[in-house]
Parts: sequence; C-alpha cells; structure tokens
Amino acid sequence: MNTHQVKEIIMKRTLNISGLLIVLGCLISSCSNAEEKPAQVKLSAPQKILIVYLSRTNNTKTIAEIIHSKVGGDLVAIEMEKPYPEDYKTTVAQVANENESGFLPLLKTKIENIGQYDLIYIGFPTWGMALPPPVKSFLRRYDLKGKTVIPFNTNAGYGIGSTFDTVKELCPYSKVIEGFTMKGGIERDGVLLVIKDEKRKQAETQVVKWLRKINMLQH
Ligand SMILES: Cc1cc2nc3c(=O)[nH]c(=O)nc-3n(C[C@H](O)[C@H](O)[C@H](O)COP(=O)(O)O)c2cc1C
Repeated sequence: MNTHQVKEIIMKRTLNISGLLIVLGCLISSCSNAEEKPAQVKLSAPQKILIVYLSRTNNTKTIAEIIHSKVGGDLVAIEMEKPYPEDYKTTVAQVANENESGFLPLLKTKIENIGQYDLIYIGFPTWGMALPPPVKSFLRRYDLKGKTVIPFNTNAGYGIGSTFDTVKELCPYSKVIEGFTMKGGIERDGVLLVIKDEKRKQAETQVVKWLRKINMLQH
C-alpha cells in the first residue's frame, strides 16, 4: 500500500466519522428543539356549581352557606308553594302521609336553565328517616342526567336514614358522590338552630375535610 492509498483510507474514515457526528448532532438538536416547545396546556372549562337546600330551622342552611363560601356557585333554597305547618307534630304527620302516598309537593323555587350546571350540591334534613318530600319533588322535576350530584344532610342524631339512597335512586344517570352529614337540631325537643358559634366553626372544619376528600377543594 503506497502513501497515497493510506491517505485516501484516512480521509474516508474521517469523512465517515464526521458524517456520523453531523447525524448525531442533528438528532440531539432536534430532540432539544422538541423539549423547548411549550408544553400543551389543556384548559378545561370551569365547572358551574349549584348549591340547593331544604331547611326548616336553618341547620342545613348553615352547612349550605359554608359549602358556598368554599366552592362558590349559586345558592338556592328549596321553597314550597304551600309551606309546612309551624307545628312540629302536625308536620311530622303530614310528612308521614306524603311519604306513604308518594305525594310530591309543588315547589315555589324555580331553577333557571338547570342545563348550565355541572355540579349540584343538594342539602336536606332527615325527615321520618327519609328524604323530605320537597327534595324528592326537586329531583323529580329537574333532569340531572350526566351531572355530578353531591348530597349533604343534618339530622337530630338518628342519621341519614334512607336519604342518600333515595337521592341515588332519583338520579340514576348522575354521578352521585359520597355525601356529608352531621348532627343538627332536635326540633321535637325544642332545639332548633344549633350549628352556630363554636359548633359552626367545627362544622366548617368538617366540611373542608370532606370537600378535600371528595376532590372538590384543592387547598
Ligand atoms: C318533620 C321532621 C321529621 C324529622 N325526622 C327526623 C328523623 O327521622 N331523624 C332525625 O335524626 N331527625 C329528624 N328530624 C330532625 C331534623 O332532621 C334536624 O333537626 C335537622 O337538623 C333539621 O335541619 P334544618 O334546621 O335544616 O331544618 C326531623 C325534623 C322534622 C321537622
């Protein structure tokens, strides 16, 4: 092999190596260019919230107001065309009759364009260990299909009874989330609004804990 041939081989190898380096360089730069591209941020539309509640002696109303102060949205009380009697015992008897006959009281409350809402918080006391008839009226009247429904409750210490199950039954095409419940008043014994002052502060702590647990509050 003469000097000329040796030089030719060295030249070819050098060209091959530099070619390889160029290809590698291009690859690396194209990779780093890809990294420099801004990440695609997917913006989802904010969820529109309705907080609707039935309350006679304002315990459930207080929970509704606490939820509202944490998550925002529209806050609406469920009111009847014909309010229940003031007397507790007469009301208990009327509710028992309504539950037995399946009577659904007419509501004064009207929701403008229920379709605009994604999340519906629905609050109610336990009445006769069941969902109060006006709340059944509400769930029968408005189509909550495809929406997320979040129940909350107060009671005299006997618990939610069948209330949360009835919400699920009446919202078969909604996503019904684990609800919130706490002890409120005992109207039978003349104990009306108890979720106030120190008890209201405790309720607020419990509500925040629950909202975080169900991923409705991030901070
Ligand atoms: C008609 C009626 C029936 C009730 N039935 C029950 C019951 O079965 N179990 C219970 O724990 N509390 C019962 N309570 C008590 C309420 O659930 C409790 O006082 C609740 O906190 C009231 O909520 P509010 O202040 O939002 O009206 C009943 C109250 C009324 C007016």
